[in-house]
Amino acid sequence: MTRNVLSVASECAPLLKTGGLADVVGALPGALARHGWSMRVLMPAYRGLLPRLGGGTALWSGDLQGGKARIVAAEASGTRMLLLDAPHLYDREGGPYAGAKGDHPDNPQRFAALCKAARLVAEGGLSDGWQPEILHAHDWQAGLAPAYLRYAGASPVKTVMTVHNIAFQGIAGADLLGGLGLPVAEFHADALEYYGNVSALKAGLVTADAITTVSPTYASELMRPEFGMGLEGIISKRADCLHGILNGIDTSVWSPAADPEIVAYDARTLKKKAQNRARLLDEFGLGDVPGPLVVVVSRLTTQKGIDLIPEVLPEFILAGGGLVVLGSGDAGLEEAMRRAAGRFPGRVGVKIGYDEALSHRIFAGGDAVLVPSRFEPCGLTQMMGLSYGTVPVVAATGGLADTVIHANPMALAAKAATGITFHPTDATALGDALRRLVQLHGDTAQWQMVQKNGMKQPVDWNASSAAYARLYESLLSESPAA
Ligand code: ADP
Ligand code: GLC
Repeated sequence: MTRNVLSVASECAPLLKTGGLADVVGALPGALARHGWSMRVLMPAYRGLLPRLGGGTALWSGDLQGGKARIVAAEASGTRMLLLDAPHLYDREGGPYAGAKGDHPDNPQRFAALCKAARLVAEGGLSDGWQPEILHAHDWQAGLAPAYLRYAGASPVKTVMTVHNIAFQGIAGADLLGGLGLPVAEFHADALEYYGNVSALKAGLVTADAITTVSPTYASELMRPEFGMGLEGIISKRADCLHGILNGIDTSVWSPAADPEIVAYDARTLKKKAQNRARLLDEFGLGDVPGPLVVVVSRLTTQKGIDLIPEVLPEFILAGGGLVVLGSGDAGLEEAMRRAAGRFPGRVGVKIGYDEALSHRIFAGGDAVLVPSRFEPCGLTQMMGLSYGTVPVVAATGGLADTVIHANPMALAAKAATGITFHPTDATALGDALRRLVQLHGDTAQWQMVQKNGMKQPVDWNASSAAYARLYESLLSESPAA
């Protein structure tokens, strides 16, 4: 029997992606189908999306958050999408969250509308009769969806709230409470209120039937003040319904044996990886790099620890290393990366921007992928590194700690090591990790073993989609709330 689940999110790959959230939202429908769950993804019809999908079929129309809106069904790369077409909210220049002048000031209303649409779908409002048994909300943009359902009274639809990154909480002024359609009686510290404001993420955490986050380590970190960002109390209170389910990557897109962007290889033909390395050096105008070529594909933010790189770079370059960076983000960090390229011509190549195809060539061509995050709910690029035999060098936090086995002598002897981890996230520990990398890279036999161990490690969605399916089923088998 096929069961229905509605996924609600602000982005979905490949249709629209700014980060890992989109990868996960885009991969879940295919992964869950194998467990008998038919998932539709509800997201905003940002400018240009509907024409790209041939217009779609309207399944609902009406007024939403101060303007005309439609819910339109369309298929995108095999995913059954529901696009919320509300031109007064989404037909704008820029990205999904911000325009040229920064964040859209009406983001609270824009994503409240998405959540109201989710409630409509959950309550059977679509003209094709499709209705979910589970509503799965992702991050703050979908946080009000479980809240609207809960505050509307008893609903047979069970809700799951997934935290991909607690740093983004969807804060709105308390004066918006009424305008967002939230009950004033719920404006207190145990429900919607967050330090005098409304938090959409907190609303979801308080009202959802289950909470998940994207790795087991981050699940436990979230209950601590250093990581919970003010929500550790509420999460700890709900620890009995908190689940850490590790992300996977879509191995039909991220596999070196079947990647049209690169010279294909697998663990047996690993030698061909060298051709990708040579091409990458060429593409970035770099010369000979005798030591490890480290790559970074990332948002350039302090969360990602990018600010630490310039500090450790001179010693690493002196030791023979090279660096390729693809990313965009904070203006100061973009400039710091450009300066690094200027300081070490021939050894450091930087491209500021977002380029999906180039990211494939970088994962294939690098020797190691660096992820020096201060916190990392899951992280996907270390998994792409594992898949491509590009050894991850990562801070031991969140999902990074859950996916990389440090190459200490015991792990090497047991043939289990898949990368290098370091702690804490500071320049001293990062410098040590890069020294260890140079040493390991210099020992060809051990290096290849670590590469191959990583390539063997499952990074697909098999285990985790089964965990989501089990969670959905357990919610439905619970006796109705008293
Ligand atoms: P986050 O979602 O916190 O940014 P993740 O590691 O979960 O971090 O996911 C980031 C995703 O975005 C990965 O698929 C990564 O390859 C991709 N990515 C990040 N920056 C770029 C870029 N500049 N160009 C292409 N892809 C990028
Ligand atoms: C967030 C997190 C990242 C995670 C991604 C997908 O963007 O920062 O760690 O991999 O969501 O869950």
